[in-house]
Amino acid sequence: MRKILAVDDNRINLELLAQLVKIYYPEFKFIRAETGEEGILEAVEENPDLILLDIMMPGMDGYETCKFLKSQNKTKQIPIIMISALGRDSAERSKGLNAGADSFISKPFDQVELKAQINVALRIKNYQEKLKKLNAEITLVEERERRRIAENLHDSLGQTLSLAFMHLSSISLDECPAQAKKTIQFTSKLLNKSIEESRALTYDLSPPILYELGLIPAIKWKLEQFEKEYGIKAILIAENDNKHLLKDHKIFLYRIIGELLSNINKHANASHVEVKLFIKDKQFFITVEDNGIGIDKVNIKPASADGGYGLLSIMERIESMNGTFKIEPTNNGTVAEMEVPLNN
Ligand SMILES: Nc1ncnc2c1ncn2[C@@H]1O[C@H](COP(=O)(O)OP(=O)(O)O)[C@@H](O)[C@H]1O
Ligand SMILES: [Mg+2]
Repeated sequence: MRKILAVDDNRINLELLAQLVKIYYPEFKFIRAETGEEGILEAVEENPDLILLDIMMPGMDGYETCKFLKSQNKTKQIPIIMISALGRDSAERSKGLNAGADSFISKPFDQVELKAQINVALRIKNYQEKLKKLNAEITLVEERERRRIAENLHDSLGQTLSLAFMHLSSISLDECPAQAKKTIQFTSKLLNKSIEESRALTYDLSPPILYELGLIPAIKWKLEQFEKEYGIKAILIAENDNKHLLKDHKIFLYRIIGELLSNINKHANASHVEVKLFIKDKQFFITVEDNGIGIDKVNIKPASADGGYGLLSIMERIESMNGTFKIEPTNNGTVAEMEVPLNN
């Protein structure tokens, strides 16, 4: 059900907004809160599609309430329209927008204007939700396609190469002229190399371990590869099994760890990385810590055609799993921490 939350210490204003919602947005449930604190509780509890927020309230005022809501993972994507008698003052409007409000409208409000603002906010929210779903869907489609190619590669090309190798090996070399013997040996070597390469490609596309044995063995394998390829010591500490994770979540987490490792290789200049997985209080925790230069969060370039979508897409995916993600510099490196609720 779609919902609109109004936070105002004045009951008459709340009543007015309730009527307006009832008339123009009959499919929405109207939720009211009379203080900022109560508004925050309702926002967390009800996850409304939109918040209408008064500024001057006893206790937590509208600015503080807005800042708080926009700082929390659970509520930050909810659009907030501030409605205030201070709205005519441009400094106050800026203050509201800087606190994270999505728009500002002055009191006493014009119904037509408020309705138009609500429509804009809901439209944007709607796009955002679609974009999020699309993003998650793209990852899964990509994964299915990778798996399909990997299986094909393994079943057709891999098998054919193995068969060719076996046939060649069955030739008794002693009876061959020297030149033929040389060619056979050389071709055998090439075939062997192709078999290895096609296997590596299969694993790279979609590691069978992830599907057959689960997330932890797959990460263990990934870390071994990472250490071999880049010479960065990689350690896995995993306390519990992960059988309570959804299949889609396993894939997401596997790819996220892959992206974090690739960042460490590209940006961190580290010699050591440690990945920890553990379960506590029905939550699945993962930390990825390196001993590199430390992430400089102030100077991260905004995402552009040259990249910079890695962390962004990690956050999106974790959000779609109702989890949390954080990446911070440490005393000697960087740590990424994520937390995903388990499915029981
Ligand atoms: N482990 C790390 N150590 C230091 N800097 C990092 C680390 N991970 C990410 N960064 C910084 O964060 C930026 C954003 O990362 P990301 O979103 O994955 O984009 P990209 O890898 O395409 O640059 C990187 O450009 C880099 O400056
Ligand atoms: Mg990256």
